[in-house]
Amino acid sequence: MTERVRSLADEVEAAVSAAMAGTLPPELAGQDPLVRRSDHADFQSNVALPLAKRLREKPREVAEKLREPLSRVEWIRSVEVSGPGFLNINLADEALLGRLALRYGDARLGVPETQGGQVAVVDYSAPNVAKEMHVGHLRSTLIGDALVRVLDFLGARVIRQNHIGDWGTQFGMLIQYLTEHPELRWHARDLGQAEAGSAVSALDSLYREARKHFDADPAFKERAQRRVVALQAGDAETVNAWREIVAESENAFQQIYARLGVLLTLDDVAGESFYNDRLQSVVDELREKGIVQESEGAWCVFFDDIRGPEDKPVPMIVQKADGGFGYAATDLAAIRYRTQELKATRLLYVVDARQSQHFAMLFRTARLAGWLTDDIQAVHVQNGTINGPDGRPFKTRSGGTVRLADLLDDAYGRAQEVVTEKNPDLHDADLDRIAQVASIGAVKYAELSTSRVKDYSFDVARMVSFSGQTGVYLQYTHTRIASILRRAGDSAAQARFRPALALEPAERQLALLLDEFSSVLNGVADTLEPHRLAGYLYSVAKAYTDFYESCPVLKADAETRANRLALCRLTGTTLARGLGLLGITAPDRM
Ligand code: ARG
Repeated sequence: MTERVRSLADEVEAAVSAAMAGTLPPELAGQDPLVRRSDHADFQSNVALPLAKRLREKPREVAEKLREPLSRVEWIRSVEVSGPGFLNINLADEALLGRLALRYGDARLGVPETQGGQVAVVDYSAPNVAKEMHVGHLRSTLIGDALVRVLDFLGARVIRQNHIGDWGTQFGMLIQYLTEHPELRWHARDLGQAEAGSAVSALDSLYREARKHFDADPAFKERAQRRVVALQAGDAETVNAWREIVAESENAFQQIYARLGVLLTLDDVAGESFYNDRLQSVVDELREKGIVQESEGAWCVFFDDIRGPEDKPVPMIVQKADGGFGYAATDLAAIRYRTQELKATRLLYVVDARQSQHFAMLFRTARLAGWLTDDIQAVHVQNGTINGPDGRPFKTRSGGTVRLADLLDDAYGRAQEVVTEKNPDLHDADLDRIAQVASIGAVKYAELSTSRVKDYSFDVARMVSFSGQTGVYLQYTHTRIASILRRAGDSAAQARFRPALALEPAERQLALLLDEFSSVLNGVADTLEPHRLAGYLYSVAKAYTDFYESCPVLKADAETRANRLALCRLTGTTLARGLGLLGITAPDRM
């Protein structure tokens, strides 16, 4: 691990630990010094309370003993004992400024590569071929994208895997229907419009047509079933038709990804079909290892404590009675591939929380098979559902699924309105560019600022607003910083921190927050919760707003001005970097 810049919180922890080592018996000195940020001081340590219990002394007396060596640390300005025995620790301004100067001088803002040596395989987005991509896939796509960016920044080798649903008996039926109706137009090029997803929309409704015939016409049903057999047997004409459907869908997905500005490319696709020729050997291996059992002709894995209706163990069906394989077999093959061939040290699946049982059984089976070992972490990074603005399941007025492209159009329209309101003189081209950046930023920030396991309402009016905890507010704060730096001209580029200056309270608050950036990112890497970063950036923006309102920058005396300009710049870079890690653009004007 490269040690870039240690955070002040780490320094304070080390100082309290040293004070403990100097005053306590060795068996007590090693415990967590319990250092936190506090409203009453820069930092607070509550360690005297548990220590007092074990020493059978009064907490305030223990705190007093620790206070003495701490107050002799040169970069600590003051230490006070408060309440039942809390240590309130305030740092010298010089220490804050010195730390900021180190971050300011480093292209990574002092953030160490704590994930170096990790190989993280991230499975996310995973829409289904010939089906409309809907809001459910939006969550996985955006959360996965943010995690990929953060882990990559922290030095992990990240392998993106888009496990698209591109295989299954439904394709036999669709292909049969398309073959019998050559007059139908569904290729994007034939639809005469470049609209994202047009081929998928067409295929989605044709699939529903095909389904109707399948249910109503026994002769068609039989032809469709023969088509399934032909597809599985690798019949050239059928496989070609399938390939075309997959390719059209993939192009449509890529258009949406490009519009969202997420990192997924065609190279990241390893869909269900990718594992076809590995499935039999997976079942064979599980059979040899005695992990699967035969049940009503099918090969299944059972766990005693995973039970369903009537208290019966739920089967994970690995191979069906007719010899076919399903979703579970594919995921088993994928986990074996990702551990053994991709050499993952961490496996992340950003998938709807409703699939939690599937992943629980998948991971346990993979452990039994020896594919997952103790040094590999596998996590189902669960996400909740997106509801409509009324808090109820998200449906169109006619009851259909809401298309992702339509939602983005809504957000775009709304962004145009609020931007025009703020700035009525914008040229069309600028308005368009800003509305794009603001609407995508708004949708992403709304997603990523919500705890991922929670459900939330997709409320465009709330998301696209200049006030409140929104992406637009954060982007706007960044533009305000850019604007002050423009006005400062050349002196902005030369601005440096002046460690000899005294800081105002608002400056201290902002400084302490800026120093937390790396620990927030490590928190995201550990908990896989991007909302920690989203919330942090909002605190930074608010602290900047407070600073800006109480501390003049351009009108201050030369030394203070240079220092404050440096603070503006460091805030701007931290916001831009942080937003970038959420996949959100930080514009200079809007
Ligand atoms: N295609 C699936 C769906 O739309 C999600 C796949 C998630 N990834 C996985 N490895 N199972 O529900």
